[in-house]
Amino acid sequence: MLKIAICFILAYLIGSFPSAYVIGKVFFKQDVRQLGSGNIGTTNTFRVFGVLPGITVLALDIFKGTLGASLPMFFQVPGKQWMIIIGLAAVLGHCFPIFLHFHGGKAVATASGILLAYNPPLFLFAFSMFTIIVLLTSTVSIASLISLPVLTIAIIPTHDPYFLAAGILVTIIVYWRHLSNIKRIFSHQENIIHVGLVYYL
Ligand code: G3P
Repeated sequence: MLKIAICFILAYLIGSFPSAYVIGKVFFKQDVRQLGSGNIGTTNTFRVFGVLPGITVLALDIFKGTLGASLPMFFQVPGKQWMIIIGLAAVLGHCFPIFLHFHGGKAVATASGILLAYNPPLFLFAFSMFTIIVLLTSTVSIASLISLPVLTIAIIPTHDPYFLAAGILVTIIVYWRHLSNIKRIFSHQENIIHVGLVYYL
């Protein structure tokens, strides 16, 4: 039980690392929360600082989830379900980071890091689907909002109750964290990134 508690706290602290904020402050002397959508995520970093910083934040945020989900293995906690449960602590940290007064990101990249650790083929499937939707719509939030439920449906054949529960939970969290995006999508005011083949707006 002590090992699980340690893993949970460590994963939360790892998830709390505000990659986008740190990259903005260190390399651009700017607070990403004051720019663009104000979100401390890959999309906003890409939007306001460019491709390389965006890719760096994406990699770091995915890694937070992967590292969090790997902690039970490092601490030799038996039971594959702990990968998911402890990984979700990293997502909790990303959404409510202790280092930024609990105002964090929207869960997508860090949650995908758990998927990378837990089921790499499904990660590749989700990542490919996400990329195609971004290229088609130029709108990252639409890719997130479509990919999560589709991924959750794709989890069903695995007959893994913890995995499916995590898929449903993360989908709910992602929709909740994207409420402002959803409002902007329906009012045709959502921010786009200039990579798409077809502009949604
Ligand atoms: O999931 C997409 C999310 O990253 C959107 O970010 O900055 O457009 O609100 P943003």
